[in-house]
Amino acid sequence: LYQDYAQKIGNRKALYEGVVNKYKIQSAIYPGSHIDITPSFFIPKVTYIDNFKGAIQFFKDKETIENFIEINKAYSNPVELTFKGQDYTEPLDIEAVDLIISQYAGFVGQATKDYLKVNGILLCNDSHGDASLAKMDEDFEFIGIVTNDYAIQTSNLEDYFKLPKNREIDLTSVKDKMKGLKYKLVAENYLFRKVK
Ligand SMILES: C[S@@+](CC[C@H](N)C(=O)[O-])C[C@H]1O[C@@H](n2cnc3c(N)ncnc32)[C@H](O)[C@@H]1O
Repeated sequence: LYQDYAQKIGNRKALYEGVVNKYKIQSAIYPGSHIDITPSFFIPKVTYIDNFKGAIQFFKDKETIENFIEINKAYSNPVELTFKGQDYTEPLDIEAVDLIISQYAGFVGQATKDYLKVNGILLCNDSHGDASLAKMDEDFEFIGIVTNDYAIQTSNLEDYFKLPKNREIDLTSVKDKMKGLKYKLVAENYLFRKVK
């Protein structure tokens, strides 16, 4: 089931592995994860959160998932996988983590930033506008992008989040439409650091 899904969404291994190695990530939350358990190959402690029936069903068989990860994981610590079958905008009973993963699942960074450590990393795309909201959020600093070949680029970032004719970013429209904007220069994934 996971293999079918991984094939559908494209291989995320290189994306997560690059970010984990660069920022020494030990713990993460993945709100709106569906069944994308790829982060657990690289991060010992991940909490997945999704209120979709199919995801809840998938994570019921935790033992099979953990055995599968045990065989494939890149670290020596035991895997610590937690699933919460709830709305991620509701309070989460968890300790602060090193990384938030936000992929095609709404305003994840905004809803869950309280569970990110100061200096922790938000990895997000702009499909639903989560990156645009983080860019305009004083709690976050825009520190990098992930290139198409999964390298992390932390300089020459000035031209991202710039609209044609230098139009201002209209956050109300991002929030209403739940859609990122058509910037002059875009990346598949963006990196933000929580600064306060
Ligand atoms: C398009 S899928 C993306 C799944 C996965 N992140 C990926 O990239 O393959 C969006 C997922 O987010 C979940 N989701 C959206 N809003 C949510 C919320 N408020 N609370 C919990 N899960 C949510 C949906 O149930 C769905 O499984």
